[in-house]
Amino acid sequence: MKKLKTEIGGVFKMSIHLLQKGRIGVVLAASVLIIIPAKAQDNVKKGAEVYEGTCIACHGENGKGEFPGVPDFTSSKGPLAKTDTVLLDHIIDGFQSPGSDMEMPALGGNEELKKQDIINVLAYIRKTFKVKK
Ligand code: HEC
Repeated sequence: MKKLKTEIGGVFKMSIHLLQKGRIGVVLAASVLIIIPAKAQDNVKKGAEVYEGTCIACHGENGKGEFPGVPDFTSSKGPLAKTDTVLLDHIIDGFQSPGSDMEMPALGGNEELKKQDIINVLAYIRKTFKVKK
């Protein structure tokens, strides 16, 4: 039993040694690869809560808009053709296009929302409302 313990200890020490010898880079890279998609997933999930809490009233469950003047997220000529930078600005500061019937209120009218919530909800919108080609 004592011998086994020493052997296990030896293997352990060897692993540590390998880690210190540059293997740590490989291990880190592998963890990053696992963590990044998990985080992106998380953003979409949190974004769904923001959408359902604040945006759905105007933009609707299907993203096509509940009122005249609310754009259709699924249209190829719709807002999702714009870049994330532009859309984040428009969601955070509010937006009204020329001649439109209705404005997009800053933060969808919910002042509690933080920038990360907006990043999350945009990730959710992009993932959920596929633009028709
Ligand atoms: C009170 C209704 C209302 C709410 C609530 C609302 N929106 Fe909007 N949204 C609009 C209208 C109306 C427009 C179109 C404005 C225009 O084109 O003049 C718009 C436009 C947009 C656009 C396109 C902007 C562009 O550059 O074309 C995005 C993206 C968007 N909304 C996201 C959101 C998100 C995310 C939320 C929730 C945090 C939200 N909206 C909440 C009414 C609303």
